[in-house]
Amino acid sequence: MKGLALRARARVVVAVAAIGVATLPIGAQNSAQTDVQSAVTAAFAKYQGLKEGKNADYIPALAHVDPNLFGIVVIGRDGKAYSAGDVGKEVSIQSISKVFTMARVIQDQGPEAIEKTIGVDATGMKFNSIVAVEQAYKLAGGPEMNPLVNPGAISATSMVQGPTADAIWNRIIGTYNDFAGRSLSVLQDVYKSESESNQRNQAIGMLMHAYGYIKQNPGQATDLYTRQCSIGVNAKDLAMMAATLAFGGRNPVTGKQAISAENVPYVLAVMATAGLYDDSGKWLYHTGLPAKSGVGGGIIAVAPGKFGIAVVSPPLDDAGNSIRAQKAIADIVKALNLNPYASKPSRALGASQ
Ligand code: DON
Repeated sequence: MKGLALRARARVVVAVAAIGVATLPIGAQNSAQTDVQSAVTAAFAKYQGLKEGKNADYIPALAHVDPNLFGIVVIGRDGKAYSAGDVGKEVSIQSISKVFTMARVIQDQGPEAIEKTIGVDATGMKFNSIVAVEQAYKLAGGPEMNPLVNPGAISATSMVQGPTADAIWNRIIGTYNDFAGRSLSVLQDVYKSESESNQRNQAIGMLMHAYGYIKQNPGQATDLYTRQCSIGVNAKDLAMMAATLAFGGRNPVTGKQAISAENVPYVLAVMATAGLYDDSGKWLYHTGLPAKSGVGGGIIAVAPGKFGIAVVSPPLDDAGNSIRAQKAIADIVKALNLNPYASKPSRALGASQ
């Protein structure tokens, strides 16, 4: 009896993942919602006490963020949020911002603009590697990089168009606001701290200018990039941004089309190959989902047509990815069967019954 009930429950979980909660009949919806909330609650309980990793400190303000901060949010097609922990506390968005600036450029200039100017290949190196720039330029002989590592991201920011720096900034933050469904703002202490300590990014901006990836104003591009990284977001904002990508580029609560549906797969493809930097392969191996991390401690993951997922927890591993966020999302993906590479064996036509 218990086995039957468990199997029935497992079928509901698979059904939730396959068709999303909102399209189920009411009774099944309630049970499906319970399953999503259970997965979130279980992941929170399991990793709340985990003390591995350490806050980023190469940006001094990040070292002072509470390392115990831990929030998980999953948002489905109907915009309903399933959450646990500190979901309203803001951290700086950091590299997760790169996804949305890339989305802006793809939307305005088409997917080939990013492919031809920056490239869409994983570097397999650290997010701020200068060797990766040299390798892409000298060895590969062209734009074999991507907009999710710092050199590609500063270049992508330089591609956002506008007559003045303020106009470009409004276009950038306006895009993030559409994804999040609310007005975001810069965490000034983080912006100041990062501006005072970003000499390496300034050098990267100059190098990208020298190699022709950035056409003009490399200093302005690096400053706007630093500002975009300092935008404050909480776990719910991040999950909403992920959910907007999960549902055809339209915010599931406000209904605002942040980017067109046909451009979403390009954004997700780069997230899948480069979203967790040199650990992107490991991440994909375990979850199968496009994702993006930031040194502020956030990670977003996108289950297309199903859920936007976000976790915030500042302590990072050596690759710069939040440890609790990676573990919690991987558990939720397993519990809800969200790995798109998972399938059931077919009933082979020739097989005997
Ligand atoms: O440019 C930097 O180094 C930071 N503003 C962003 C780096 C980052 O978030 C890498 N992500 N895991």
